[in-house]
Amino acid sequence: MQAENGNKRETRLFRVSEENFDAVLDEAAEIIRRGGTVAFPTETVYGLGANGLDPEAVRKIFEAKERPPGNPLSLLVHSGEDVGKVAKNIPEKAFRLMDSFWPGPLTIVLEKKDIVPEITSGNLPSIGLRMPDHRIPLELVKRAGTPLAAPSANLSGKPSPSLAAHVLADLTGRIDAVIDGGGTAIGLESTVVDMTVEPPVVLRPGAVGIAELEKVIGKVRPTYGEPDSRAVPEKQAGQKYNHYTPDTQVVLVEGDRKKVSEKIGSLLENSLREGKKVGFLLSNETAGFFASEGLSAQECFLLGSRDEPEEAARRLFEGLRVLDAKSLDVILVDGSFSPSGLGAALLNRLREAASLRYAV
Ligand code: TXA
Ligand code: MG
Repeated sequence: MQAENGNKRETRLFRVSEENFDAVLDEAAEIIRRGGTVAFPTETVYGLGANGLDPEAVRKIFEAKERPPGNPLSLLVHSGEDVGKVAKNIPEKAFRLMDSFWPGPLTIVLEKKDIVPEITSGNLPSIGLRMPDHRIPLELVKRAGTPLAAPSANLSGKPSPSLAAHVLADLTGRIDAVIDGGGTAIGLESTVVDMTVEPPVVLRPGAVGIAELEKVIGKVRPTYGEPDSRAVPEKQAGQKYNHYTPDTQVVLVEGDRKKVSEKIGSLLENSLREGKKVGFLLSNETAGFFASEGLSAQECFLLGSRDEPEEAARRLFEGLRVLDAKSLDVILVDGSFSPSGLGAALLNRLREAASLRYAV
């Protein structure tokens, strides 16, 4: 039985396979129907799901994550019928987005119906909806018979989980179950677009890029730092709590590729002179530069080639977690990744993790 106190429950681990898929999904759906919490993979990151229309169940998500009240949750849906149940006055452009990008990594913010409790929407009149491109959450929503409130399955302020191990590290004893379905394919959270305003506003960059959105619905307005902008990204309503902040100080260096390597080298020398323990989150190319410079990296996590932002995106949150666990004083981060494709979203997450940024 579940303990009343949200943070003293037994967390069951389901390892899903072809053979037990049906049985696991039935059990997980039963937990959701009884008002419990289940974490599961999606194609973006692991989500922590509960019945999004049940305020008591949603309260357990806030408790488990220590998520500040008022930060809106989004809902995972399984069908057009689900959308009609929770959203109203849906603009024609939003239907076009659903046709083009669902199931997939796009959260669409729409006017909500009264059936969506205020705790779910953070008292906003709108709600974010997403149909995930992953069999486990799709089946779970279908079998539970309700849209799932499903934020990323991490403690608030920690990097989002791209592995079940990350969920277990943060939420064991706080949630009812975790479905381990392996690593997530994309590794960064979905693009969020607010369709309640005109032109629509992109609140969070993700795997669906601005250019792709504009091909389908025309002009959109991004409200976070552009990949090549030197300005600190604006914090938007609904985004204001969303920090990816490891406990260790994170210093990001962006700009010209050669200069980035040199700047990281001089930051390293300064830090070592101050007796600091230094870690690195680097592209293969920048790491290669250090090898040839004869500088020895103390703790280095490689994100892959800077021309392969998709791979770097998949590895990013693992890298932040691994380095954050090593009791370092500072993590020096390579911002020389190509801003094409997932690169824009990758750079956005690097900036959010950083407490200090250099542009060179
Ligand atoms: O890829 C994803 O979206 C993952 C997976 C698990 O689905 N989920 C996720 O959830 O990242 P969460 O709660 O960590 O992020 C949802 C984002 C937040 O930035 C939230 O502020 C925003 O969507 N959001 C939700 N409803 C909103 C609303 N009504 N207005 C503005 N922003 C909203
Ligand atoms: Mg999150």
